[in-house]
Amino acid sequence: MDQKEIIKIKKYIKCFHIKKNEDLETFKIKFLGKKKGIITVLFKNLKKISIHERKNYGKIINELKKEVQNKISHYKSINDINKNKKVLNSDYDPTFPGKSIEIGSIHPLSIIINRIIEIFIRIGFIHVDGPEIEDDWHNFTALNIPVSHPSRDMQDTFFLCKSLDVLLRTHTSSIQIRYMKNHCPPFRILSIGKVYRNETISSHSNFMFHQAEGFSIDRKISFSDLKQTIHYLITSLFGKEKIRFRPSYFPFTEPSAEVDIHCNNEWLEIMGCGMIDPEVLKNVGIDPEIYSGFAFGVGIERLALIIYQMKDIRTYFDNDIRFLKQFKSEF
Ligand code: PHE
Repeated sequence: MDQKEIIKIKKYIKCFHIKKNEDLETFKIKFLGKKKGIITVLFKNLKKISIHERKNYGKIINELKKEVQNKISHYKSINDINKNKKVLNSDYDPTFPGKSIEIGSIHPLSIIINRIIEIFIRIGFIHVDGPEIEDDWHNFTALNIPVSHPSRDMQDTFFLCKSLDVLLRTHTSSIQIRYMKNHCPPFRILSIGKVYRNETISSHSNFMFHQAEGFSIDRKISFSDLKQTIHYLITSLFGKEKIRFRPSYFPFTEPSAEVDIHCNNEWLEIMGCGMIDPEVLKNVGIDPEIYSGFAFGVGIERLALIIYQMKDIRTYFDNDIRFLKQFKSEF
């Protein structure tokens, strides 16, 4: 290998453009590749050279190899610097606090619902569910509300088919029927859910609202049990609060009452209640001579208006995130 050839290889090393990682690979293979790499081949040829020349020749090849290696590490270090520069130039600041993940809050109506379930479970009530799509018998007839009974007008019904037998439940009292016909007393049941009435939408009503229905059947259940249970619910929810029982009428309870709560110098109606009518018990196969029971239905939105001091029920359904964010799970 003469001087000319050495210079040629040196130049080749120097002028080889390494711009990206693929170039670096090609460069490495070209010079140091195991079989045909230029430097590798030069080393292989060492054996063919006389011992006398070998020392000098080996020195030259080692220098060339060094140049190749220097070029490789030079590229690598520049590449690392560029990478760091990219990180520094971007908006990324490792010391900056991370973005917090927004966690939703519990809907105010759900807070009240959960609280009511908790309150009743403490006194031995069981929480059960029922369907929102009902038939006439469970929603009306079995509850002593026959066809053409004027009280059907009290609850402006959404019917789902022409036969008038499939409807959106107008109250949760249909769950009384569903549960009582399939179970033997004694029992204490609580059920909470949506009910639907086609009432004119005003600031105080909505076509859908929530009710909590409670009922208890046993031997010797009396009106005083009902009164005490309602009292327990109201004091658990509000602390000390003045309530009154006002005589009322429901086809499925006798006697019946409306419960009002004294709030901001006025009486607000929050629920209907009464002793379950013996006819209703008969409809579900419970002997009214042996068993008696009470039932109540409370409007969740009404409670929510009082608890959160709101004026318009529809605020609870607007889904305004600014309103909903304010609620913590305790009240
Ligand atoms: N279901 C009645 C209503 O929706 C409320 C109620 C429930 C009354 C249970 C008495 C007993 O108005």
